Amino acid sequence: MTQNPRKILVTSALPYANGPIHLGHLVEYIQTDIWVRFQKQRGHQCTYVCADDAHGTPIMLKADQLGISPEELIAQVSTEHQRDFAGFMVGFDNYYSTHSPENRDFAALIYQRLNDAGHIARRTITQAYDPEKQMFLPDRFVKGECPKCGAADQYGDSCEACGATYSPVELKNAYSAISGAKPVEKDSEHFFFKLGDFEQFLRTWVDKHVQEQMIHKLNEWFESGLQQWDISRDAPYWGFEIPDAPGKYFYVWLDAPIGYMASFKNWCEKNNVDFDDYWGASSDAELYHFIGKDIAYFHTLFWPAMLEGAGFRKPNGVFCHGFLTVNGQKMSKSRGTFIMAESYLKHLRPEYLRYYFAAKLGSGIDDIDLSLDDFRMRVNADLVNKVVNIASRCAGFIAKKFDGQLGASLVQPELYNDAVKMGETIAQAYEQREYARAMREIMHIADKANQYIDAAEPWVLAKQPERAQEVQDSCTLGINLFRVILSYLAPILPQVADEAATFLNIDGFAWDDIQTPLLNHRINKFKPLMQRVEPDAIDKMVEDSKQSIPAPAPATPAAPAAQSPLAAEPVADTIEFPDFAKVDLRIARIARAEHVEGADKLLRLTLDLGGETRNVFAGIKSAYAPEQLEGKLTVMVANLAPRKMKFGVSEGMVLAAGPGGQDLWILEPHEGAQPGMRIK
Ligand code: MSP
Ligand code: ZN
Repeated sequence: MTQNPRKILVTSALPYANGPIHLGHLVEYIQTDIWVRFQKQRGHQCTYVCADDAHGTPIMLKADQLGISPEELIAQVSTEHQRDFAGFMVGFDNYYSTHSPENRDFAALIYQRLNDAGHIARRTITQAYDPEKQMFLPDRFVKGECPKCGAADQYGDSCEACGATYSPVELKNAYSAISGAKPVEKDSEHFFFKLGDFEQFLRTWVDKHVQEQMIHKLNEWFESGLQQWDISRDAPYWGFEIPDAPGKYFYVWLDAPIGYMASFKNWCEKNNVDFDDYWGASSDAELYHFIGKDIAYFHTLFWPAMLEGAGFRKPNGVFCHGFLTVNGQKMSKSRGTFIMAESYLKHLRPEYLRYYFAAKLGSGIDDIDLSLDDFRMRVNADLVNKVVNIASRCAGFIAKKFDGQLGASLVQPELYNDAVKMGETIAQAYEQREYARAMREIMHIADKANQYIDAAEPWVLAKQPERAQEVQDSCTLGINLFRVILSYLAPILPQVADEAATFLNIDGFAWDDIQTPLLNHRINKFKPLMQRVEPDAIDKMVEDSKQSIPAPAPATPAAPAAQSPLAAEPVADTIEFPDFAKVDLRIARIARAEHVEGADKLLRLTLDLGGETRNVFAGIKSAYAPEQLEGKLTVMVANLAPRKMKFGVSEGMVLAAGPGGQDLWILEPHEGAQPGMRIK
């Protein structure tokens, strides 16, 4: 049952105000929105705030390029972002901007408190400077030849050709990606946040407030030492000027998370809520941030340290999620899988995607894949054929034969009660962000409901006037099960739930309402709640996304052959047969399998190739205990160049199949296979 109402403040990361929302972003906003809707449905006081992240060099340059002011750009983008979020039914209580008076005040306040407490250092550093544009260049805006491999047009921080990392001053023949001019080195004083002052605090804080998988990552950061963080930028910069430091601005990432506070403060003013009640050091409200794993450093180290240093409360949890791939690959403009929210919505209903993401999302940081075929089949099988079907199979009989009136009792109350009892398990799964688990449980109930209707056959009974009561009884139970299922799915499918509420003639789906079944109750006419996903719609969306590649746009035309980060990458979907023929597949006997100290995925395998042995590391620990493997035959790639891994050299690769986790199977040839045999 619902406990005492909790006060919960929830945020999603603030999207940059220089580009459109795409399906990758939506993993996060949909994940968060589901959680918030669930909390509200449970009767908690839950507030969801967000904002555009409106500062920084890229936004300044983009406005420049478009010939408009940064204010105009961020206003335009804000409108588009809010349109797209609304399109996907992401229900923020407040959507604001980091370029706001509230944020200016909080940024100044936090900075001043940190400064007063001695957590800000100043020192002069040397950086690349564009003499033509008269500005310091962020690493990403210096380009040139890689100092290691000589590849042309590499960014100032790392080489895409050989993977080397370096500082922009090491680039050969460097040029500014903005003006094309040769950068010079120039000194200036910068302000630093002394993150190291908070090491002890962070070590304990992180352990309790960050997911297990992230803690490993964080430990690496602790081990390599907490560096001072450069929080200032010199003019010209688009952001807030630092108090008492003319010409110095806060780096965008300083005021970005403070934007969570600013947006909430703005909401408090409109809703008469006490801000300090949520953000004061001893607040009893809960605070959660949903973010992508790429921005964990900012949220799990800098942010809690800033809050601690400035006397505010810290988050109860920072929930990281993984990245979206489409059809198993990084989203790609050339393949049409870099899909904008807007392009999706032209062709498909938002709730399809909300459901698909829910069916895939767990509480971890693993990447999630949107396979477009699987998406269509899954939505059709689960939502259309299973869930909506329950109502459409029963509604007609109740309308035609009983004037919309449900019966007076449930013929198989245990079926109903079992479904209601599952509510706590499902609620727990939602609470823990284990949505995939929740969806499995819900579909299990839907299967049972359909089996019941299959067996009851109201369409057969309806032809026999003397069995009218049975028709009403079975359809009454069917409709009541439908209501339970819709109640569980309401956080995922807000519009379907609204329409279902109209059909069921109820006010909505407060979590505990299903404790009382709908009996002697009149329902309304049934209208189809959801159409099938057609392959055609998906094809068109992909086609549209191929067309919407923004032309590679260097900031100014002068940059010699500057390749914009937006430029389309080459297509690499297929390999030719000769490439495949190079792969030497052999049967191997697993002579030994052992745990690898410190590795959570890997096993060390000693493979016997009929005389020759190989040492191979395989990421199959989630699926197999070493003793299950010893003596088994498997298939390996025998001519893979040896690779040095963290734990030793791997001399080949074992082939396995399956979605991963426990469901991963090594290939096991049996019939007549001998170690060392070639396959093909
Ligand atoms: N402006 C910063 C966040 C500041 S929060 C104080 C930012 N913006 S972003 O627009 O690049 O990303 C917004 C959120 O979307 C981030 O949490 C990011 O991880 C997430 N995603 C962006 N692309 C994504 C995928 N392809 N897949 C999953 N999430 C992704 O970072
Ligand atoms: Zn290189």
